[in-house]
Amino acid sequence: MTFARIAGTGSYLPDNIVTNKDLEKTVDTTDAWIRERTGIEQRHIAVDGQTTVDLAEPAARKAIAAAGIDTSEIDLIIFATSTPDKIFPSSACILQARLGIQGCPAFDIQAVCSGFVYALSVADKFIKTGSSKKALVIGAEVFSRIIDWSDRGTCVLFGDGAGAVVLEASEETGILSTHIHADGQYEELLHVPCGIADGFDRVKAGEAFVEMKGNEVFKVAVNTLGKIVDETLSANQMEKSDIDWLVPHQANLRIISATARKLNMAMDQVVVTVNKHGNTSAASIPLALDVAVRDERIQRNDVVLLEAFGGGFTWGSALLRY
Ligand code: COA
Repeated sequence: MTFARIAGTGSYLPDNIVTNKDLEKTVDTTDAWIRERTGIEQRHIAVDGQTTVDLAEPAARKAIAAAGIDTSEIDLIIFATSTPDKIFPSSACILQARLGIQGCPAFDIQAVCSGFVYALSVADKFIKTGSSKKALVIGAEVFSRIIDWSDRGTCVLFGDGAGAVVLEASEETGILSTHIHADGQYEELLHVPCGIADGFDRVKAGEAFVEMKGNEVFKVAVNTLGKIVDETLSANQMEKSDIDWLVPHQANLRIISATARKLNMAMDQVVVTVNKHGNTSAASIPLALDVAVRDERIQRNDVVLLEAFGGGFTWGSALLRY
């Protein structure tokens, strides 16, 4: 049996850091409110001209180096983002050219904060069916570009960044299962309500921003993530105690803690980066994974659960042996 095994991870954050104290100067908020409601202390924000692919490229190069392979061996690129550099071509194609790779399939996946889990799920299927041997899977975003910096309900939550993994076809156990879902009826609870359909009128007016009913999103997220944990464990006939690490999407520390409680996991088995990164949407899981791999918390053969929830609504999980 062939598995998709994580051969290397990488990540990249823009240098520019915006703290809660910085935001106190621009919107009616406080450091204490943001920490208490979200767990966020700071976020990295891209500077003018710095794009999603600019963040993805160093993350991808680090993942390829960590995998110990040559860039030319990559035979699939899947790029999860909701903030692509252009409408087309895809960010995957732009990155492919920057990495000097030609010919392999390269495409984007748009599932907002669940994007990386969606991308991992698709790459896993390419590898399991023998269509790919070494896949580069990326989550990268510049959410700061679609945030209304005068809306305190959203601007305190998000950050920019990129994370990447190289998946390799292997006889050794890797990804055990992936589970992805969507329910479009919740579209208006979390969306950027403009684009091609309105002739870009609001984009041109500089009003293309995330709109969110935060507390309603919160309730559905906690409930849905509880269910996906059960679905994942039962598909693998595993117990909660079999999981070594939870690497959740980093939206809000309270949502993360609720999932950890559902799994009876102590918070020291949960990789938390939301305090330093904010919510980086599709980038948050590969960023957190890379942090915990590089600081050697996650070790080879550990059982790791990834889970995500985002606009759509979309949600998903991946269970893997690292
Ligand atoms: N600073 C200070 N006060 C703020 C604020 C801020 N940055 N943002 C909102 N408030 C105020 C609200 O205006 C409201 O004031 P009011 O009671 O006078 O009307 C009050 O705080 C409570 O707002 P509410 O939205 O009910 O707070 P909350 O406890 O639900 O926390 C979120 C808000 C956004 C932090 C929380 O709902 C959340 O994290 N939701 C999930 C969002 C998410 O994860 N989205 C991405 C999914 S991938």
